[in-house]
Amino acid sequence: MTRPDYAEKIPNNVGLAEDRRLQRALESWQPDFLSWWETMGPTLPTQDVYLRTAIDVRGEGWAQFGHVPMIDYRWGIFLADKNPDRRIAFGAHKGEPAWQKVPGEYRAELQRLIVIQGDTEPASVEQQRNLGATAPSLYDLRNLFQVNVEEGRHLWAMVYLLHAYFGREGREEAEELLHRNSGSQDSPRILGAFNEETPDWLSFYMFTYFTDRDGKYQLGTLKESAFDPLSRTCEFMLKEEAHHMMVGTTGVDRVVERTAQVMVENDTDDVAALGVIPLPVIQKYLNFHYSVSLDLFGGETSTNVANYYTAGLKGRWLEERRKDDHKLTDDAIMVDALIDGDIAQTEVSALTGLNTDLRREYIADCSGGVKRWNRILEEAGLSQRLYLPHVAFNRKVGAFAAIEASPTGEKLPAGEWAARKGEWLPTEVDKTFVRSLMRPVYERGKIAAWVAPPRNGINGQSFDYDYVHLA
Ligand SMILES: [Fe+2]
Ligand SMILES: [Fe+2]
Repeated sequence: MTRPDYAEKIPNNVGLAEDRRLQRALESWQPDFLSWWETMGPTLPTQDVYLRTAIDVRGEGWAQFGHVPMIDYRWGIFLADKNPDRRIAFGAHKGEPAWQKVPGEYRAELQRLIVIQGDTEPASVEQQRNLGATAPSLYDLRNLFQVNVEEGRHLWAMVYLLHAYFGREGREEAEELLHRNSGSQDSPRILGAFNEETPDWLSFYMFTYFTDRDGKYQLGTLKESAFDPLSRTCEFMLKEEAHHMMVGTTGVDRVVERTAQVMVENDTDDVAALGVIPLPVIQKYLNFHYSVSLDLFGGETSTNVANYYTAGLKGRWLEERRKDDHKLTDDAIMVDALIDGDIAQTEVSALTGLNTDLRREYIADCSGGVKRWNRILEEAGLSQRLYLPHVAFNRKVGAFAAIEASPTGEKLPAGEWAARKGEWLPTEVDKTFVRSLMRPVYERGKIAAWVAPPRNGINGQSFDYDYVHLA
């Protein structure tokens, strides 16, 4: 495996220089990407940002850190090392060598999977573009921009596959990825959660915790793909994603920590007037971001996904660690369902229930965050706790889209839902309050009053490091 070549116009470890046609095609997409970045990317003017750039795909030293102007970030194409003996781990082709080319019969499906993944990457950059104006610290500002440039790189990762393996249609799809925009009336992003706003930093932390984590699980299934270039691309993307998860997890930690501190110091739950976010408001934001992220996993059952699995296009989370036949033709799974209008479960074939399998892994992972945040409350000596709402709560996709349910999983008549939903989801009053706290703090070593400072800086630097130089 070649080390990424940074002398190239497009840094890469895929031997782009040896494929002139592909190189030219990507070099002609590059200016479109850059103009998309300038018009739809971060709005806060900066001189440079302390960013991590991938320089290798393995080992400890895979990234280097330094101050770079964001527009000069080296967005590149990096695939994890190739295992020449890799075999397909599941489905009807289990045991056969992984594919280095796209099989004709699966071309349309593979292209669709890549486009859907690719669409989420620039979408989140668009959703987060104005957050720089209200960053609580230079450390947070830097993390926001790091996430943004890497989501831009993930777009590159998908565009590379489209250009390299899907011909003219792939190139057209690559253009479309820059033309759809988050929240646009005419050409919105493909998935619902990616058209929601990220108007404040509590939303940003919740988004990077819950919605980026959905991305982690989707990438995990594509990493298992029989189509080896897709698998290797996703493997490396997952490495970068770990930082995005960290931003979300510790971001919510720090909000909870600060709120708990002010509650204890003042011996009150009513902390809004003291300039921090009350726990019930944090819970409402959590409810919102968790429920819209559950929707991203699709319906409880799906014959498309069953077919993707059998064909080898998309596996399960940690497929190779599963102790079964990896074909699932005789297995069954219990999935959420509406039975006679009630919240219940039903048994379906394991193949059709694969979305449920993935969502379950995701939910288990999410409960880890809640446990952490509750430990912070416990250590502060508080009795309040945060929780994940019931899977039927606030769903727009799947079995429970047709009903309304409370966070504890009680089915509600429409009137009661309408009357009570403000107890569970952020209201205009809550959002306005949270926004009122969002005033930028750009001084080195300083932080906004509604959030605690991080325990550690980035790459061994201290919290008061000059992570960002504003323009
Ligand atoms: Fe991403
Ligand atoms: Fe991400």
